[in-house]
Amino acid sequence: MRFTVNGECHDVTPRPGQCLRTLLRDSAHFEVKKGCDAGDCGACSVLVDGTPVHSCIYPAQRIDGHAVTTVSGLGTPDDLHPMQEAFVDNFGFQCGFCTAGMIVTASTLDADDLGDLPRKMKGNICRCTGYRSIRASIAAGTASPAASASATGDSADSLVGRSLHPPAARRVVTGTEPYTFDVTVPDMTFLRVLGSPVPHARIASIDTSAAERVDGVVLILTHEDVPIRRFSTARHEHREDDPDDTLILDPVVRFIGQRVAAVVAETAAAAEQACRLIEVTYDELPAVFDPEEARTPGAPLIHPDRTPLDRVNHADRNIIADFHHGFGGDVDAALSESAVTVGGTWSTARVAHAQLETHGSIGWLDDDGRLVIRTSTQVPFLVRDELAYILDLDADRIRVFTARVGGGFGGKQELLTEDLVALAVLRTGRACGYEMSRTDEMTRTTYRHPFRVGVDLGSDHDGRLTAIKVDVLSDTGAYGNHSVGVMFHACAESISVYNCPVKRVDAEVVYTNNPPSGAFRGYGLGQVIFAVESALDELAVTLDIDPFELRRRNAVADGDPLLITHPEPEPDLVYGSYGLDQCLDLAQAALVRGNGVQAPHGPQWRVGEGMALAAIATMAPRGHISRVQVGVDADGIYHVGIGTTEFGNGTTTVHTQIAAADLLTSPDRIRLSHSDTDAADYDTGAFASAGTTVAGKALHAACLALRDTLTGIAAGIAGTDEVTLGPDGVRTGVRNLSFGELIAAADDTSRVGDRIVATGEENGDLRSIAFNVQAFRVAVDVETGSVEILQSVQAADAGTVMNPQQCLGQVEGGVAQAIGSSLYEEVMLDGQGVVLTPVFRTYRVPQMADIPTTEVYFADTSDALGPFGAKSMSESPYNPVAPALANAIRRAVGVRPHELPMSRDRVWRLLSS
Ligand code: FES
Repeated sequence: MRFTVNGECHDVTPRPGQCLRTLLRDSAHFEVKKGCDAGDCGACSVLVDGTPVHSCIYPAQRIDGHAVTTVSGLGTPDDLHPMQEAFVDNFGFQCGFCTAGMIVTASTLDADDLGDLPRKMKGNICRCTGYRSIRASIAAGTASPAASASATGDSADSLVGRSLHPPAARRVVTGTEPYTFDVTVPDMTFLRVLGSPVPHARIASIDTSAAERVDGVVLILTHEDVPIRRFSTARHEHREDDPDDTLILDPVVRFIGQRVAAVVAETAAAAEQACRLIEVTYDELPAVFDPEEARTPGAPLIHPDRTPLDRVNHADRNIIADFHHGFGGDVDAALSESAVTVGGTWSTARVAHAQLETHGSIGWLDDDGRLVIRTSTQVPFLVRDELAYILDLDADRIRVFTARVGGGFGGKQELLTEDLVALAVLRTGRACGYEMSRTDEMTRTTYRHPFRVGVDLGSDHDGRLTAIKVDVLSDTGAYGNHSVGVMFHACAESISVYNCPVKRVDAEVVYTNNPPSGAFRGYGLGQVIFAVESALDELAVTLDIDPFELRRRNAVADGDPLLITHPEPEPDLVYGSYGLDQCLDLAQAALVRGNGVQAPHGPQWRVGEGMALAAIATMAPRGHISRVQVGVDADGIYHVGIGTTEFGNGTTTVHTQIAAADLLTSPDRIRLSHSDTDAADYDTGAFASAGTTVAGKALHAACLALRDTLTGIAAGIAGTDEVTLGPDGVRTGVRNLSFGELIAAADDTSRVGDRIVATGEENGDLRSIAFNVQAFRVAVDVETGSVEILQSVQAADAGTVMNPQQCLGQVEGGVAQAIGSSLYEEVMLDGQGVVLTPVFRTYRVPQMADIPTTEVYFADTSDALGPFGAKSMSESPYNPVAPALANAIRRAVGVRPHELPMSRDRVWRLLSS
């Protein structure tokens, strides 16, 4: 069979049933991505004779005689296609995993298609951007050839606050930036997993004999073959933050899909076939799926043998952790004495991260016999350390690194593939790869924790809060990864952002036999904020007070103590800056101004406006460590070793800006080596905005130290303090000392090899606070329950906005994800632990047509704690969206939603009740 790819002739015979995507990737066309393998996401889009197709559902046999064009055939990093140029110029990507396919489809459009763009692009999903920047890119790419606005070669002047383009931009848009599996590893074996078909059982026996006879099978692992050392898949700076309730392979299964066995084989097909031939006998155990039932005495126990030593507080009631605290006296008495009370119970759904790159890792032994793991993770150092713990290895004998990560949103703060891959490599001595399918991803990884939240508020007649009572129940599913941190975080800034003399929180997180939950953008705050901000709105309705005004009366002002359930504030949480007042003003003004978008015609449409606020600490509590090394070589190239990960959050861009600004040089002289335990010093990893607020600060310190070292050496040589660092060396009076001269003069304390080096460290021991205010104007069809967003506004207190376009993208992307989980996204279970939405066809990720443009405004603040005054802005835009939408719907139709998602059928039922 002959065909061409990007003009190059191929003569291959496809395997029976093979699709075009795997045929192309087998030929090292790694620019063709795998997102779903079901024709739903478009990451694999290519042109066949000029027509875009999803190559994952295009039979390879049909390509005979045809011409395939991938994104790499459209242009190269040095010679971009106009559409690729437009995606660079308009910041049309974040993680970039969708981008190759997106550009391929967009390259077939012209200006006449712009009016119908959502339909033309409906086959291409982006999980990161919120689509506004993609629409702008396509509009620019279909116009006359875009003028390059690249700032990557610009001088250091005003780099902070400029929209520098990501260093990898030209590679991302041409498909040449490698992700985890975009590499050929010689002699690699393939690992696949057999999942449990039952929600709760003890494995009575496993017969692998038939599987072993499958041609190409190299190794089969069951619970009898793996180390028995309990851990948590969740990774944190302190491993004690999570319960030790997980084994690599466990003789007890606790949810449908849990690993039962792993097969390593010469091909993925052989591994999958062998998995199907493993015979398992299960002794089924009673199961529980409702969190309220799970904590009721007498319920089936899911981890009965775990104890507080394992960080499981009450295994006899399936409770991992609980929290019952308050201050100011009896909250019920305070409520009964309040002039006005409102209350209710709100619930949120299980939501999938749906990042386009699934979890996966590849392992091998290097020439020294060290274990090397290339993995799609946000936390390479924590993965290394936990692998060392569970496999009883010296951490020095393990290297973990990432290529570019195709999205994470918190879902890749888990160790979900690396342990099996490591074990396979160590047992076989051969390279091994384990790449999850989309269904694996949707059934075997983690979700946003579903919460049930009761809120009671009391106030005086002016709406000033007199009592806050919050009751939280979180369903962590079968394992407790991240559950404790999520519960505590959920009940923190959601409560502390309001002044109130009496506060009380009761919270419990329980095991069920549902699939596990985990870390997800917002880390629990969004769930409780949905309830608290809905209740606040009900108070505003009851008292007929403007909802913005009600927040102004109650929210903390600059310097007010941030109190959760203790009368003293947390000592490490301070106001490095304060922009909530500006955010309230900006959002309200935008809503008052309007945007001219009218509700659809018809008497069935009702219009309403709603708002909500959110606060978030700029980094996680209890420390987050980053150590950064910066060195300069004789050519004036600065080499930065930094441990944190780029997964679309833009940290590589911000780090380039910080280094170039501090070292008074241009961005093209900055070389970053990141997220590699061998190439950088320790970093806790990509949590929230730690890449900016922690690693960025450590980098800032390292750069200033290097600057001091360089100017100090120059001053010593020249005998004067009048020295100035420049791009080619240090100027001292009349002459310039080159970097080579400085290196030659450096002593051993500052010289490493042929570079002058300095380090910086940040421990995250003082945290600031950031704010977001979201507002919506919506129209609701009272006959169908449809919700149309007419205007979306977010005002954000990001401190110094390091890179306006990237920060804008973080806000837009966060709002888009929140619109999805507010209006329709939901991992459906059948009540017996079976996931009913295991693919994108049934789990609806927002498409271009679903997401309106959000007007984004930034408060004018500069933070005393953040690097260059910056604060966090990756998680927080998500948090106020659901209550703002719910409040707008309430104002439109007079009935308050209490459940997420507020899908059309739910809103319709609400109206019919
Ligand atoms: Fe589109 Fe990440 S940039 S999925």
